[in-house]
Amino acid sequence: MIENFDLLRETCLSCKNCKLWETRTNVVFGVGNPKAKVMFIGEGPGANEDLQGEPFVGRAGQLLDKMLMAVDLSREENVYIANMVKCRPPQNRDPEKEEVEACIGYLRNQVRLIQPKIIVCLGRIAACAVIDPNFKVTKQHGEFFERNGVTLMGTFHPAALLRYPSNKAAAMEDFFALREKLKTI
Ligand code: URA
Ligand code: SF4
Repeated sequence: MIENFDLLRETCLSCKNCKLWETRTNVVFGVGNPKAKVMFIGEGPGANEDLQGEPFVGRAGQLLDKMLMAVDLSREENVYIANMVKCRPPQNRDPEKEEVEACIGYLRNQVRLIQPKIIVCLGRIAACAVIDPNFKVTKQHGEFFERNGVTLMGTFHPAALLRYPSNKAAAMEDFFALREKLKTI
């Protein structure tokens, strides 16, 4: 556990704990307000994120920004966004178990320092790792779970919404539910 957020970031930026370091352009540590009440967790950087060193800056990220804006949230102000793995898996494949195991310590450390009230998992990979290994996004999206005083919720990954736009309305309901939940804590 590293107690200082900037030091944690610096440490992560030079990490070689798994083989993803060999093919990355940039480590994608995270973005947002480290004092945010709500934290979003994605899967891993894609091509744009790898080039820019910031999570969710491609098409999926633009959709995420729009959905955040609709519920008065923004990456500049009042959320923190990070990924399960901080370096891009080649060809955007799913991160391997060993890669997640090597990287998850950074995410845990981020969560401990940020101390979010609510953690929103974007997509199956994050929801299965953080909420429940058997989490089914289509069935359980938008449900709130409590763990150690933190509220957890899983919803559709914005990249999945680009492929299946018919789920956008359901995803937006989850964001409205998040906005209501935030008012209570
Ligand atoms: N998809 C993710 O899961 N994370 C990103 O940062 C970008 C796309
Ligand atoms: Fe280190 Fe995580 Fe990048 Fe692997 S993915 S090299 S563990 S920062």
